[in-house]
Amino acid sequence: MTRKLNRLSLIKLFFSALIPFTIGLFTVITTIQQQKFSSAQREQDKQDALLSRKQSDLHAENLHKEKVYETYLDDVSELFTMNNSKDTLMKIRAKTLASLRQLDIERKKHLLLFLYDSELIYHSPEKAISSLLKVNEADFNGVNFRGTVDATCSFNYLYLHHVYLSKASFINCFIDRSNFSYSIMYKIDFTRTRFFRTSFRFAALNQADFSQGTFFEMDFVGASLVECNFTGVRWITQYMDFIGTNLTGAIISDQLLKRMKLHNSILPNGTWGPIVRKNLVVNGDAEQNDSLTNNTHPTGWTVSVPGRLSSIAYNSQNSTTGYGKYHFRVTPSYSLKLAVSMAQNISFDEFILLITAGMARYNVSIDYQCSGNQYGYMQLTFFDMNGLKYEPVYRETKSKMQIERLKLSNQFNREMHKVQLKVGFIRNLTYDDTSTYNEENYCIADNIQFFITKLN
Ligand SMILES: *[C@@H]1O[C@H](CO)[C@@H](O)[C@H](O)[C@H]1NC(C)=O
Ligand SMILES: *[C@@H]1O[C@H](CO)[C@@H](O)[C@H](O)[C@H]1NC(C)=O
Ligand SMILES: *[C@@H]1O[C@H](CO)[C@@H](O)[C@H](O)[C@H]1NC(C)=O
Ligand SMILES: *[C@@H]1O[C@H](CO)[C@@H](O)[C@H](O)[C@H]1NC(C)=O
Ligand SMILES: *[C@@H]1O[C@H](CO)[C@@H](O)[C@H](O)[C@H]1NC(C)=O
Ligand SMILES: *[C@@H]1O[C@H](CO)[C@@H](O)[C@H](O)[C@H]1NC(C)=O
Ligand SMILES: *[C@@H]1O[C@H](CO)[C@@H](O)[C@H](O)[C@H]1NC(C)=O
Ligand SMILES: *[C@@H]1O[C@H](CO)[C@@H](O)[C@H](O)[C@H]1NC(C)=O
Ligand SMILES: *[C@@H]1O[C@H](CO)[C@@H](O)[C@H](O)[C@H]1NC(C)=O
Ligand SMILES: *[C@@H]1O[C@H](CO)[C@@H](O)[C@H](O)[C@H]1NC(C)=O
Ligand SMILES: *[C@@H]1O[C@H](CO)[C@@H](O)[C@H](O)[C@H]1NC(C)=O
Repeated sequence: MTRKLNRLSLIKLFFSALIPFTIGLFTVITTIQQQKFSSAQREQDKQDALLSRKQSDLHAENLHKEKVYETYLDDVSELFTMNNSKDTLMKIRAKTLASLRQLDIERKKHLLLFLYDSELIYHSPEKAISSLLKVNEADFNGVNFRGTVDATCSFNYLYLHHVYLSKASFINCFIDRSNFSYSIMYKIDFTRTRFFRTSFRFAALNQADFSQGTFFEMDFVGASLVECNFTGVRWITQYMDFIGTNLTGAIISDQLLKRMKLHNSILPNGTWGPIVRKNLVVNGDAEQNDSLTNNTHPTGWTVSVPGRLSSIAYNSQNSTTGYGKYHFRVTPSYSLKLAVSMAQNISFDEFILLITAGMARYNVSIDYQCSGNQYGYMQLTFFDMNGLKYEPVYRETKSKMQIERLKLSNQFNREMHKVQLKVGFIRNLTYDDTSTYNEENYCIADNIQFFITKLN
């Protein structure tokens, strides 16, 4: 009996104990659920708050950009009403660069159009470059222009020298007489755009897309055209100059390739095209006698004492010596007490690719014939891209009466950009033989040559 009772009470006890446990369990479960729910709610609230903050941030940012842009327009318009002095242009430049750093692509595009419409980057023939805005290093990355049926995209005389235009696009546009020299334009999209008389001199156009475009009288000297797409390009002139360009990996049909002048260039397959073999000195043989200019400077040269050097005809009997008709000498009526020299700058633009590849060599030579107390010299002063000078190299004549060829030859330094070649006529102050007449004291110079060749 007690056993039975005991069992019964145990069951009772079990159930009575079970009720609060169930309640407790329920409480625990609901609490957990509630907690879960409220934490989800909190998460949702947090997200909502974040979103609205993001939206208001975006809004604020947008407002800020709009403010930057409007302030820019106001400031520049105000500067514009003042005189167009150098000072004003410098202020506009500073404002332009600073604003571009803070603007989005859409506003950058409007800023570009504003500069173009206000003719600050419009280089028409009657305007000097110094009257334009210096846009060097302006960040126009990503701006996009597209010509459509209802809106044409057309630029004339657009001046964008040395700017950033990577991943920008000018699709189905018309671009005439414009200047993109030295600009950085990686992956720019120029599909279906017609280019006339436009310069891409030394532009970095890696992976640019020119497909289905049209070219007329273009200047690509020194441009980097690595992996450019020239599919379906047509050009109106018979040949197209691609002097000194790097075309590694460019997509060009063989048919087009045949019509390209690829001198001093790296071809799509990575090999070098032919190297230009020509004398880079203008009028080095003294044969150019431009009767329109008065004879103060021989064509191509700048004389240190104007009028004191000229091209003079050889004795007519001697015109078969291989030196042509004329040579350079000090003007006979001028008694040579001072040194006189003539100089000419030679640009290496068409050879820059070869030079930066460390594969270029120069050889320069002048034929002199001196008498009496006179002697001749040549001096080469190289400059780098920033106009910094290298130590000049120099040679002078040693012999008298017979023709002497002064020569210099060396490998290029990779940074060399141009050279000033000076040809001098000078009096030897320690010369002691006074038996010769003054008239017989002079040097003649001819056959002045500067060649660049490729190292093998
Ligand atoms: C015009 O330019 C000159 C020289 O830079 C300057 O002194 C002058 O204040 C300028 N005038 C105006 C109205 O800005
Ligand atoms: C392009 O601009 C540069 C820099 O101002 C200038 O030296 C060059 O002559 C211009 N090129 C053309 C074709 O106008
Ligand atoms: C080059 O352009 C053509 C025509 O637009 C296109 O079909 C082709 O895919 C392009 N090639 C590359 C490598 O982008
Ligand atoms: C590279 O391309 C040029 C021009 O198409 C061709 O003449 C030359 O044989 C090619 N060289 C090699 C190694 O494929
Ligand atoms: C040379 O030409 C310049 C400009 O055309 C002129 O100013 C100068 O007087 C001329 N000199 C001589 C000697 O004819
Ligand atoms: C160059 O031309 C002018 C004018 O025709 C002439 O007087 C002069 O003698 C010529 N110079 C030479 C070197 O022939
Ligand atoms: C002309 O030729 C003769 C003989 O070949 C030579 O003696 C004379 O120096 C030459 N004159 C000039 C100006 O070159
Ligand atoms: C050659 O260039 C240098 C440096 O830019 C310049 O100072 C010099 O006047 C130029 N000489 C000539 C003859 O043009
Ligand atoms: C030409 O372009 C290729 C590919 O970018 C590069 O490896 C090579 O160094 C470039 N050559 C020169 C001379 O810059
Ligand atoms: C310089 O190089 C050119 C081209 O290779 C050559 O014709 C000329 O004879 C060379 N001149 C000298 C002085 O070595
Ligand atoms: C100048 O004349 C002296 C004496 O005649 C001679 O030794 C020297 O080599 C000459 N210098 C030049 C550059 O011709």
